[in-house]
Amino acid sequence: MEVISNFSKLSATVECFSNKDNIKVGEYSNQDILSLDNFNKAKIEIESWDGYKPTTLHSLKDIAIYNNVEEILYKDEYSRFSLKSFKALGGAYAVSKLLIEELKKNEIDANSDDLISGRYAGITAKITVCCATDGNHGRSVAWGSKMFGCGCEIYIHKNVSIAREKAIAKFGANVHRIDGNYDDSVHIAAKVSADNNYFVVSDTSYEGYTEIPKSVMQGYTIMVDEAINQINKFPTHVFLQGGVGGLAAAVVSYFIEYDHINTPIFVVVEPSNADCLFQSAKSGIPTIIEGDLETVMAGLACGEVSLLAWEILKNRVNHFMVIDDLCVAPTMQLLASNSIPIISGESAVAGLSGFLLAAKNDSLREELNIDSNSRILCFGTEGDTDEEAYTVAVGKSSQDIIDSANN
Ligand SMILES: Cc1ncc(COP(=O)(O)O)c(C=O)c1O
Repeated sequence: MEVISNFSKLSATVECFSNKDNIKVGEYSNQDILSLDNFNKAKIEIESWDGYKPTTLHSLKDIAIYNNVEEILYKDEYSRFSLKSFKALGGAYAVSKLLIEELKKNEIDANSDDLISGRYAGITAKITVCCATDGNHGRSVAWGSKMFGCGCEIYIHKNVSIAREKAIAKFGANVHRIDGNYDDSVHIAAKVSADNNYFVVSDTSYEGYTEIPKSVMQGYTIMVDEAINQINKFPTHVFLQGGVGGLAAAVVSYFIEYDHINTPIFVVVEPSNADCLFQSAKSGIPTIIEGDLETVMAGLACGEVSLLAWEILKNRVNHFMVIDDLCVAPTMQLLASNSIPIISGESAVAGLSGFLLAAKNDSLREELNIDSNSRILCFGTEGDTDEEAYTVAVGKSSQDIIDSANN
């Protein structure tokens, strides 16, 4: 309780934009981008990968009581394959789908099992995939490339930590560090790929590049389906962190197509230095954020929205919030001190931090309709994907936390 009450003393700034004028109700209509049909196809492939199992959905009982809401559920992606983040579902799935499509051009009908067994390695080894990343997406693409047997080139920007770089290189990918921000690395990866006949496997979509990001986002919907199967009562609110918007689009699209009558209130939360979704909502059109986008929430340091994600989010997200970095470490500490300790990375806690800041602010509570009957769902999208940064933020290593819980 002491850690919980410490959070409520934080004077972190928070801003909220309510998207009231733009909200569309009714049935889901973006099946050309993400659909339950394509979710079912992704599910068959991803569930066949070695080590697949649904991640845990925690109920944060003490934090719910303290904040006077009925329930807070936290989907914990720490145990997602060996990659510790939901991104394992997206990039790797897109790599498998791309290789399967390429094999089709050779009149070969393959699936993930065929790729993993190396049955068509003679063809797939000649294919190279390439992407830009701030860590987790590149790790997933590199892991997928190794698992499915193709080459991999990854571009990272100047602020990506050495630990994240090593975690990608571990899977045999060539990692290149560029001297710019995330969006610069996206542009460079696209140029290098065009020059070398690489296939770009990006988690963001832009003018003229849309098909592969659809597969990436479709992979994420596995996590949403797991969560819906794990909950007893539908949430009233879903708090989602935003980078380029792919995660949020996957969650929002799945929920609405699944049940457009009982749609929860969706709140997208971003770092104040990298608030491209917030600014796009305010101006009504995709809006680019300049600058170095520096934030401790490394996975959210994006200045340009994914155009396809934006197509889904612009009329379906009820509120856009920005939070400052100050609340990130306290939220990580809060989860580490939970009755069952939860190891969560900086980008994972943005949604929960947004809720905690709103819950202790009377006017935001009212604006977001948060009351004692609210059931909050958050997606804890990563564990300690940078172990050193985690130790600094929480004051203990994840291993120490796990060990003391086991003793
Ligand atoms: C841990 C984590 N959470 C959330 C996100 C945000 O996802 P998106 O960029 O699709 O909005 C990212 C992006 O890299 C991430 O790594």
